[in-house]
Amino acid sequence: MKIFENYSLAELNTFHIDVRSNKFIVVEKVDELDNLIDFVELSSGKFLILGGGSNILFTKDFDGTILHLSFNQLSELKSDDRFVYIKAEAGVVWDELVKYSVDKNLGGIENLAMIPGTVGAAPIQNIGAYGQELKDSLFEVEYIDLTDKKIKTISNEKCEFGYRDSIFKKSLRDKFIITSVILRLSKNPVPVLNYGNVSNELSKSGIDKPTIKDVSNIIRKIRTEKLPDPNQIGNAGSFFKNPIIDENKFESIKEKYPDVPSFRQENKIKIPAAWLIEKSGLKGYKKGNIGTYPNQPLVIVNYGKASGKEILEFAQLIQSTVFEKFQIQLEPEVNII
Ligand code: FAD
Ligand code: EPU
Repeated sequence: MKIFENYSLAELNTFHIDVRSNKFIVVEKVDELDNLIDFVELSSGKFLILGGGSNILFTKDFDGTILHLSFNQLSELKSDDRFVYIKAEAGVVWDELVKYSVDKNLGGIENLAMIPGTVGAAPIQNIGAYGQELKDSLFEVEYIDLTDKKIKTISNEKCEFGYRDSIFKKSLRDKFIITSVILRLSKNPVPVLNYGNVSNELSKSGIDKPTIKDVSNIIRKIRTEKLPDPNQIGNAGSFFKNPIIDENKFESIKEKYPDVPSFRQENKIKIPAAWLIEKSGLKGYKKGNIGTYPNQPLVIVNYGKASGKEILEFAQLIQSTVFEKFQIQLEPEVNII
């Protein structure tokens, strides 16, 4: 365990907001958490787990203790005719897990290539991209329940997974530390090609019978072209979730904009927040050091040394402009601290 005081978080969040944490503790072994849990002020809100900082916006210094979990073992637990069960500890970098499984031709998370951050954070918003979500391959999550300080295992079915949602954002909110994730990956992978331009891009590259490695690589290419690299331009990916609206609301938008893109979700309709932002005249909009990324306006970027507060105000301006035009309230995906 390593303990630091008055610690700069500038390199530990992908918006590169230069704030400090009162205490910053790097937890190197799961067992170290036992004693720490009594030590940090758990219930006072002065306690935070920070993974890769790729889905977080700090609006001020953190007046408390941040725990950064660095334990990162990967192990194969068991396998049967169809599946291999892999246990990944919370500190594993998510994309390293994707590379590991693709290299072994184990299917299930190959379309989630290049999502920044750690394994420990992945179940919280059920990370998803290009037609796959974590829930499709997740078997179990191990976590410490902060209400009784016991290590517990929760099955996929009990995680209440939804679009960018899980039990960790609902009844377990602020009451858990995820210590590891167990995935169930397929030994006979079937490429998932139904999202956007994945098939087209594969054809353009002359690949007609893609392996999961081909799919993963083409998604890496698409993402590199579309999304800003946080090492170059600060951002946290999509700032807002795509709104899910009812049929009546959708029809009223369609009357005015017959070409509105949409995706059916049971009896509701998901429409791209990027489209709403673009139609509100805010694609590529820039104010001072902050803007919407010209290729993907759902991504808010920090072009310079913007503060977290300024970024939050910018996000609120987007919300109010979209609301004025469409009467739809965009909900942040990013965790605002
Ligand atoms: P952090 O930002 O460190 O933390 C996020 C939240 O989880 C915080 O509330 C934190 O307290 C909590 N937390 C973290 N670890 C733990 C733990 N072990 N136990 C308890 N709580 C914990 N997301 C997608 O779903 N799909 C995408 O395609 C995608 N693309 C992205 C592209 C870019 C360029 C960027 C910057 C982000 C993107 N994201 C995407 C968002 C982000 O990568 C994911 O949400 C990721 O899972 C966050 O991981 P992290 O370790 O950085 O979490
Ligand atoms: N669009 C526009 N204008 C634009 C860009 C996009 O109108 O400038 C519309 C188009 O209709 C396009 C649609 O938005 O078809 C969807 O765009 P895109 O495929 O880029 O995906 P997204 O819905 O904006 C979501 C996730 C991403 C994930 C991609 C790929 C959310 C909030 N975001 O973005 O996740 O990588 O799909 O699956 O669901 C993240 O969560 O941080 C993230 C980056």
